[in-house]
Amino acid sequence: MEKVFGLLGHPVGHSMSPLIHNNAFLKLGIEARYHAFDVKPEFVKEAIDGIRALNISGCNVTVPHKIAVMDFLDEINDEALQIGAVNTIVNKDGKLIGYNTDGRGYVKSLLDETEEDIREKSVLIIGAGGGARGVVTALLRHGVGNIEFTNRTIEKTIPLVKLAKEFHVPSATIEKEVAEENLINYDVIINTTSVGMSPNIHHSPLSLKLLKTDTIVSDLIYNPLETKLLQEAKERGGKTVNGIGMFVNQAALSFEHWTGVKPDITQMKKNVLQQLG
Ligand code: ATR
Repeated sequence: MEKVFGLLGHPVGHSMSPLIHNNAFLKLGIEARYHAFDVKPEFVKEAIDGIRALNISGCNVTVPHKIAVMDFLDEINDEALQIGAVNTIVNKDGKLIGYNTDGRGYVKSLLDETEEDIREKSVLIIGAGGGARGVVTALLRHGVGNIEFTNRTIEKTIPLVKLAKEFHVPSATIEKEVAEENLINYDVIINTTSVGMSPNIHHSPLSLKLLKTDTIVSDLIYNPLETKLLQEAKERGGKTVNGIGMFVNQAALSFEHWTGVKPDITQMKKNVLQQLG
């Protein structure tokens, strides 16, 4: 019988997850369908009960439900607990297990696209929301040399500094202006905020005037593909990594949790690029 997978989010109209997962099912000859479910925040519990009642095989979870779903699952794996959010649910014989593939997806795309070893590297994270939490957890689990945080609301970085301490990785919170004056200190700069996302494409979260040319500048945003931050980095000779790799890699890791099969990431990227035009 055809299996059913889905996305729980609100809104979900522009999501490209159905496109890439349905394509991967088709290519691999897996009898399954992936559907985006628009779930209002007051119905999160009912949606999770619905997975059980309808025997849906697995789901992705996106904004704004990644934290809320945690209360209604049967088990949450260690990494998702550490991140404090779930983006993937697996229905294992009626038991719902939560995972988080966002951070690992990001680190895989960073390593694949730069072919650099980031283990002793010094990293600057811009932002301190859910996106930052996933990326920082995965970077710490992978191993980085040093990690610093800057955010519009500076107090929000406190949990990230605490997390770095748990991994015995030196860390600090700094003002944006101080980071901008000291860009020479960083090997990798990662924007996890929504600043620069379409339609606000002329905004940038950080001035890169003092960027050194071998610094990697990366943005979780993939619409537009090249944000103002990445454009400036390129102009200054820096290497850039856009958000498409994270999007398809987190999807591929979810797909693997559900089916045990690795989908074709290059094909997934092509689907997204085609859709973006
Ligand atoms: P996500 O789950 O996508 O990370 P989030 O948890 O709402 O979303 O976090 C959004 C991040 O983008 C935060 O770091 C936020 O800064 P604040 O903590 O000060 O809110 C940052 N952000 C969003 N809009 C911003 C803006 N216009 N200028 C600077 N930072 C912004």
